[in-house]
Amino acid sequence: APTPEIRKGLAGVVVDTTAVSKVNPDTNSLLYRGYPVQELAARKSFEEVAYLLWHGELPTPEQLAAQTAVERENRALPGEVRNAILELPTSCHPMDVCRTAVSVMGAHDPSAEDSSPEAEHAKALRLWAMMPAVVALDQRRRRGQQIVDPDEDLGYAENFLHMTFGEVPDACVVRAFEVSMVLYAEHSFNASTFTARVITSTLSDLHSAVTGAIGALKGPLHGGANEAVMATFAEIGTADRAAAWLDEALAGKRRIMGFGHRVYKSGDSRVPTMKKTLDDLVAHLGTDEATALDELYDALEAAMTERKGILPNLDYPTGPAYHLMGFDTPTFTPLFVAARVVGWTAHVVEQRAANALIRPLSQYVGQAQRTVP
Ligand code: CMC
Repeated sequence: APTPEIRKGLAGVVVDTTAVSKVNPDTNSLLYRGYPVQELAARKSFEEVAYLLWHGELPTPEQLAAQTAVERENRALPGEVRNAILELPTSCHPMDVCRTAVSVMGAHDPSAEDSSPEAEHAKALRLWAMMPAVVALDQRRRRGQQIVDPDEDLGYAENFLHMTFGEVPDACVVRAFEVSMVLYAEHSFNASTFTARVITSTLSDLHSAVTGAIGALKGPLHGGANEAVMATFAEIGTADRAAAWLDEALAGKRRIMGFGHRVYKSGDSRVPTMKKTLDDLVAHLGTDEATALDELYDALEAAMTERKGILPNLDYPTGPAYHLMGFDTPTFTPLFVAARVVGWTAHVVEQRAANALIRPLSQYVGQAQRTVP
């Protein structure tokens, strides 16, 4: 038989259809249910975008109010989820905390095994509503700070920041955070979403799919890159050292985190919006640290473009933006989880609606058949 063609990493392979989002690398665009993500980030709240991704249309005021009511009711963590988090050692990565928290939520969810579209949407909404408390609780316990309860009078982004920092920051910071959430919410068949779809394809449950997706997102080639970007900046130190640092790193065959993309080859469609947001944040804060970080950002980008022609992806601007908002570096990828849980669960519902077990083939290259001695 002819040797089958192997597409390592499924590069370029179209495995299914989706109506959730469209990535077009030729026009450098990303559409959520048909709407350009840049326009959504500029004009809509994260709650509205979540509704859009789940239901296919932007909400009416009544639909949004109904979703908001459920989201606010479910912000506080059930005792068993909170206890499970507090049991985990602070030596573990915050992504391990997210992964465990979602698994525990699934074990206690009243309709864990009900996979009707209505039950799936309800579970997705509860899960999404609880994630900020997971992330905020974990950062605060690691800092030895008292836990802050959710505030039902605040919007999603304000409440998230309030639970994390004990106060609602200035509107510019809230806006920057909200933009990042919108940009991170969905991105078609990336590795973690595909993981969620693979798990769903076996007819497993939604919490299992999200738990697995969190594991896939943790890696530095995927979501872990936003955290790794800050580590890179810390290693380089100042803008004047960026080019020399890069030359040495490239000579050592290192991957430069926050650069490159499997699909976009002429720039990530989300970067201009997030970079503008980062610049606004830097101007708003007006500190020497913020300015120095922005200069380092520009210097490394310029050097990388010049040396390799490889452009930044979304994790490049979000890393420093989250740092300037006050998040600890290991918390960055959990912030990505809080946003992407929307996209993952929209894909779980879509996968289930027209399911086929995902089970590819491999070409065997091991020992030929032999006799057991
Ligand atoms: N630093 C150095 N070289 C790179 C980079 C990078 N960041 N990205 C690609 N290359 C080089 C790579 O070494 C290879 O060179 P050669 O052909 O000489 O061996 C060439 O570009 C093609 O790379 P590839 O790994 O075959 O391409 P891919 O499509 O598998 O890579 C990627 C996509 C995201 C894994 C890769 O660009 C990378 O490792 N980037 C750094 C990690 C990162 O920022 N990930 C976030 C991805 S986007 C947002 C998200 O998911 O969170």
